[in-house]
Amino acid sequence: MDSPQFTPLTLHQQLSESDMRQRAAAFLAEMRRRRSVRQFSNRPVAREIIVDCVATAATAPSGANLQPWHFVIVESPDVKRRIRSVAEREERKFYETRAPDGWLDDLTPLATGPDKPFLEDAPFLVAVFVESSRQTATGERRPNYYARLSVGIAVGMLITAVHYAGLVCLAYTPSRMGFLNEVLDQPDDRRLAMILVVGHPAEDAQVPVLERKPLDSVVSFA
Ligand SMILES: Cc1cc2nc3c(=O)[nH]c(=O)nc-3n(C[C@H](O)[C@H](O)[C@H](O)COP(=O)(O)O)c2cc1C
Repeated sequence: MDSPQFTPLTLHQQLSESDMRQRAAAFLAEMRRRRSVRQFSNRPVAREIIVDCVATAATAPSGANLQPWHFVIVESPDVKRRIRSVAEREERKFYETRAPDGWLDDLTPLATGPDKPFLEDAPFLVAVFVESSRQTATGERRPNYYARLSVGIAVGMLITAVHYAGLVCLAYTPSRMGFLNEVLDQPDDRRLAMILVVGHPAEDAQVPVLERKPLDSVVSFA
């Protein structure tokens, strides 16, 4: 095995206390403007913007730097139509029979249902896959440590990058996700984590009125 190599941390930018306070507060204000959007405009978005946002996600930290993710950027209207068609078939079964009552109760404030027009209206769908294992150079199969957690962090960074770029998105988790491997020609050892729907909001887009838990109920100090 090669010996570890190190390099000085030249990328770190040292800021003054006041700059740090200002930037932390400004970023919080910016992120408070983020909302999940379910009505999209078909206004086009340059592919380079989406690629940059995905590249941001791919800078995420990951367990043992194994980077257990794969992103499929979907823009083909035909592929989007196929995804919508299978997703809505599964969603209908979910809403009509599979979903426990408690789950449906929890979804009531969002008014979600089996119809998912955003899967075709939005210019881009980013399908995020988790790789829970990998093949080493010697052909051995080894686990990727903390794969789902690492992908969750990458998705958070993707959502943040999309918002920061001036677009909106929706984290969509179809109730059964296996069909995406076939539609997107992905191997079985990649499992879909979510589809991030990305684009501009529809002009008349509305978002549910939701409340955040107060900060002092989600943060404590020790
Ligand atoms: C892991 C995860 C899965 C989600 N799945 C769905 C989904 O399948 N359909 C949907 O409409 N919204 C989905 N959402 C969006 C949430 O409903 C939304 O983030 C939440 O209601 C808070 O609203 P906000 O994002 O506007 O703050 C999901 C969000 C996350 C983080």
